[in-house]
Amino acid sequence: PEKCVVAVDGPSGSGKSTVSRRLATRVDGVYLDTGAMYRAVTWAVLQAGVDLNDPDAIAKIALETELSIGTDPAAPHFAANGTNVDEPIRGVEVTQAVSAVAAVPAVRKHLVALQQAIIAGQPRIIVEGRDIATVVAPDADLKVYLTASSAARAQRRSAEDASDVKATEADLARRDKLDSTRKADPLKLADDAIEVDTTGIGIDEVVTYVLNLLNSKV
Ligand code: C5P
Repeated sequence: PEKCVVAVDGPSGSGKSTVSRRLATRVDGVYLDTGAMYRAVTWAVLQAGVDLNDPDAIAKIALETELSIGTDPAAPHFAANGTNVDEPIRGVEVTQAVSAVAAVPAVRKHLVALQQAIIAGQPRIIVEGRDIATVVAPDADLKVYLTASSAARAQRRSAEDASDVKATEADLARRDKLDSTRKADPLKLADDAIEVDTTGIGIDEVVTYVLNLLNSKV
């Protein structure tokens, strides 16, 4: 396609990142990892030593943090206040704290505005997150909602980071609950999104399926 915005939402470990990056490469477009934006802000909040129960203090840090947002699907590097954060944003401290930071409405408002500005400047972009179809890009050309059984999601995630499967499954369940029950822009299936259950399906198959959907729309 000459132009396209694709929204890829779903819970943690559903295959969003891998599918989105491959799709971006296939359409010669860019990739926006909105979860990494929430993670980078969370890193800055932890660096600042702010109390995670203080939404005003969290919001203040979020607004002050200068983010550098990589959108190359082959190497989406992130920096916060000039420091590369690619490693720490995947670490346990950030993963533990990110859902609390992402629940603060002022943080979301700020990051959603940044996301919309990035999307507006790109002819072809694949955007992954939790609220892309519902809030960030309600006019997206294609909205995909990826799911997978909790066991499959935990297995994928622990294969990625060599963590314990049971502990990972518990952590995913904890974050999914926080993400889908929060007041501000919770994770939910958009009315016009196409749900794809990736349990037991190879990533290549999912990518081909979504590409066909996209080509039938744009
Ligand atoms: O996708 P990832 O696991 O990196 O996202 C980390 C966290 O960021 C999620 O658990 C969720 O709390 C938050 N998030 C969000 N909205 C998005 C993307 C991520 O609230 N669009």
